[in-house]
Amino acid sequence: MSSQDENGLGAPCGWRSGPDISHHSVFLKETLQLLVENAVFQATDRNNKVVEWVEPEELEEQLDLRLGEEGITHAALLAYLRGVIRYSVKTGHPYFINQLFSSLDVYGLVGQWVTDALNPSVYTYEVAPVFTIMENEVLSNMASIVGYSQHDGLFAPGGSMANMYGMLLARYRRFPEIKRSGVSGLGRLVAFTSVDAHYSNTKSAMTLGLGADNLVLVNVDEEGRMDVDHLKECIARTKQDGALPFLVTATAGTTVLGAYDPLDAIADVCQAEGLWLHADAAWGGGALLSPKHKHKLRGIHRSDSVTWNPHKLLAAPQQCSVFLTRHLGLLTQCNSASAPYLFQKDKFYDTKYDVGDKHLQCGRRADVLKFWTMWKAKGTKGLERHIDHLFEMTKFFTETIRDREGFRLVLEPQCTNVCFWYEPPSLRGKRNHEQYPQLLNNVAPRIKERMVKTGAMMITYQPLHSRPNFFRLVLQNSQVNAEDMKYFANQIEVLGRDL
Ligand SMILES: Cc1ncc(COP(=O)(O)O)c(C=O)c1O
Repeated sequence: MSSQDENGLGAPCGWRSGPDISHHSVFLKETLQLLVENAVFQATDRNNKVVEWVEPEELEEQLDLRLGEEGITHAALLAYLRGVIRYSVKTGHPYFINQLFSSLDVYGLVGQWVTDALNPSVYTYEVAPVFTIMENEVLSNMASIVGYSQHDGLFAPGGSMANMYGMLLARYRRFPEIKRSGVSGLGRLVAFTSVDAHYSNTKSAMTLGLGADNLVLVNVDEEGRMDVDHLKECIARTKQDGALPFLVTATAGTTVLGAYDPLDAIADVCQAEGLWLHADAAWGGGALLSPKHKHKLRGIHRSDSVTWNPHKLLAAPQQCSVFLTRHLGLLTQCNSASAPYLFQKDKFYDTKYDVGDKHLQCGRRADVLKFWTMWKAKGTKGLERHIDHLFEMTKFFTETIRDREGFRLVLEPQCTNVCFWYEPPSLRGKRNHEQYPQLLNNVAPRIKERMVKTGAMMITYQPLHSRPNFFRLVLQNSQVNAEDMKYFANQIEVLGRDL
């Protein structure tokens, strides 16, 4: 083997885990180049497809991901990685408006890369000194934007887990004995959230032993916001039944409609009833960065805890999710297990910086650096501009389709969700026909199939309550512009007009 083969891409991959400059440097540089060219620039280029759709069996054949007894060369491994990039959905592409995450933020990506190279675990200051104090800085800034005068908080592995922290803490505060004696003696505990709240609330009720039936789903109004009178009725009925209400989870930006529950009015109810108020601002929390739009979350400072996902509206890379509470020390009281092998109290530094024991996890990824890198790079003003741009584009798209033939808004947008139906010409003027709802229900899935197969764009659809399938455009990527908004409407028309 020539010396070029030994150290170049023709070299077999090494079996040792550590990097070796002569053996790995060419491979790492080539991989970085591939990432930058194919996974960053080509993947976000409007001239390229959002997805190269392949049926599952064909994809298995094309990629041949079978694992083997023997290793392969760097060149062969790179070819596989090229395939991984090629057939993956380009979620950073401006035409990917399919989910509550999207975009490719260069600073966030670099923060993610640095995190991955350092591979820390943020449980003790000893192994994660920088990330520990960086978390404090970011959490303090977010808590002050929420309006808490004192706070505690943590980075959770997603908004679902952050919501579970809310339920856990609410129950612990009311029944601290639960930590030792468990749930058996507590009676029937009941939590409340709206019918349009995220399903993670149901999962939390299932996981924490409440039972899904003891999460009462409160009605919403026409705009998808929690009906506060119905909330009061539900609480009263629960008490009459001899059960114990303890938590209301209000949503600031519901998943489908983007509705903001009236936090102030809900806080009044919680205050009167002595209930914990958790605000699930996983999706809509980003609006707090904008003086123009933060009024949507008026009253959030009165909550006991908040979920806020920077990986959604603020477009940080996944996952980046924050749980905040105004109750100092409660997270540790509720969750600590004081493992003596990790959280030794006789360490040589102030062990209050060993933050790990307030989490439910042991080892924990440092999700803070990517968001800190973005925030530092752009400043709070930059984040504000990002949010304002998203809301402007939301308005632009809404106006683009408002009077356009065939398009019909489900409701006026509150967050950056625009929910709408597309009626192909064959259905126009037929709203009174008996079969109309079913026929309309079939339209969005067919258009979606076509858009994925052509790779033109990705937007999601869903039914809600009695509404037939409708499209939901969601914006988090501030690269999108007015031309893109027109493109989305045009594409839906092109793909759907013959249905
Ligand atoms: C309102 C709301 N809360 C919580 C979540 C859960 O967040 P995650 O996907 O990070 O678990 C979502 C996800 O879309 C959401 O829309």
